[in-house]
Amino acid sequence: MTRRYYVTTPIYYVNGAPHIGHAYTSVAADVIARFKRLAGFDVFFLTGTDEHGQKVEQAAQAAGVAPIELANRVAADFRDMYDRMAISYDDFIRTTEPRHAAGASALWKKLKENGHIYLGAYEGWYALRDECFYQEEELVTGPDGTRTAPTGAPVEWVKEPSYFFSLSKFQDRLLELYETHPGFVEPSSRRNEVISFVRGGLRDLSISRTSFNWGIPVPGDPKHVMYVWVDALANYLSAVGYPDGDAPRWDFWPPNLHLVGKDILRFHAIYWPALLMGAGLPLPERVFSHGWWTIAGQKMSKSLGNVLDPRDLVAEFGLDPVRFFLMREMPFGGDSDINRRAIITRMNVELANDLGNLAQRTLSQIARNCGGVLPERGTPTAEDTALLAQASLLPDIMHGQIDRQALTDALEEVWKVIRASNAYIDHQAPWALKKTDPQRMADVLRVLADVLRTIATVLQPYMPGSMDAMLTQLGVEEAERTFAALDTPLPAGRALPAPKGVFPRFVEPEAQ
Ligand code: MSP
Repeated sequence: MTRRYYVTTPIYYVNGAPHIGHAYTSVAADVIARFKRLAGFDVFFLTGTDEHGQKVEQAAQAAGVAPIELANRVAADFRDMYDRMAISYDDFIRTTEPRHAAGASALWKKLKENGHIYLGAYEGWYALRDECFYQEEELVTGPDGTRTAPTGAPVEWVKEPSYFFSLSKFQDRLLELYETHPGFVEPSSRRNEVISFVRGGLRDLSISRTSFNWGIPVPGDPKHVMYVWVDALANYLSAVGYPDGDAPRWDFWPPNLHLVGKDILRFHAIYWPALLMGAGLPLPERVFSHGWWTIAGQKMSKSLGNVLDPRDLVAEFGLDPVRFFLMREMPFGGDSDINRRAIITRMNVELANDLGNLAQRTLSQIARNCGGVLPERGTPTAEDTALLAQASLLPDIMHGQIDRQALTDALEEVWKVIRASNAYIDHQAPWALKKTDPQRMADVLRVLADVLRTIATVLQPYMPGSMDAMLTQLGVEEAERTFAALDTPLPAGRALPAPKGVFPRFVEPEAQ
């Protein structure tokens, strides 16, 4: 039976254009989805847009359009960004779709039926920008005496009737979950934050609003609309067909991985499992929270005018260098900075020098000195065996890393083999063997071609376009690009296309 893998990104708000932060979560999910597919899994990779709520309603008002028009426009823009970033999502859910209203309403009804929803009144400090209430003691007082949310967002005192989810009842079960399933929240530093938050005591969650109406009506009481987080989180269920247990995708439930930024971990690691426990549904296996990018040393914000559109970076540096940079520069789970220098350095050192040269040197020698066909596998020397063995371990080592979302470490593992291959080619010096020992020259080039095939195969999830080009140049056919296919060596004598550099050096336009 094929093993299933269900991975999600957050669904993004449609009150602004896609930016690098959105692209980051999505590229990471894409790398994981592509990797699992190559490993033979049946993958369901879900992403989408979060289209309800007061923020969207107000952004639409400011733009002079109906909320749905704004949502249509921004959702299309997200799809455009995804296409240009080669995000291989299987489904794109929009919370304004009927299938989502059906899923979210069914979740609500189930929670109500199970006695976890009651009507009360909410009053408290509300930050519109964060779409979240804050407790008195969480507020920060600025130099001029005004109080804001810890995020800096303005807060106002709000009172309205509201339905509540009895989150407080779930405190013990949540703590038990974190204890018995330590992998449920990662990285561990974040898990500790989550645990201490839950230990500090949980208040019931206000889950409906009467103060605006751009949302899904509460079943049985349409004066209320669902508060955005219950609506938004339910997307993970509605996309697989909930509440229809016979829906073709329902078999994917529960998700193997929710990938989220650290700003929305609390919702995914606390509220979400509690809602699912309340509805009697199986819980996701894992929630992984990644860090944040700053832009040339500064927090990205509309007011600073430094919101970075990933498509601008792609236009300048090319897609795969940008995907590579995002996955390589920031240890997955940590925080990091994006700036031109850092991107150019990664491109020129790791892509052009380390990997590009290795491929180019190998392929051009095969073209020139082996008649442009893949040489036979020779009798391996100790060095050959060592390098081939190191490369052959990559898929398994990386699989373990990918399952832990150690996406940066997995790249480092590949670079160890690339560096070893560069040392090998320098040491074996096949160009010098041409006259003295052409047989050994061909053997060395074949070892390198095999190692490169493995490298390019395992790097496909990170840089699909460039690795497609590299595999083609190595004579690897479409059907021979999975991890399982690596067990079968390519037949000798296969004609290779004329080699062409895959990673040109980046030269600053003013230096050209
Ligand atoms: N709609 C909610 C999520 C609901 S999920 C059920 C939301 N949307 S969002 O549009 O604000 O996008 C949030 C995602 O973008 C998070 O994963 C967040 O971490 C990511 N990023 C936003 N800015 C970021 C950076 N500067 N750096 C990295 N990721 C950042 O929250």
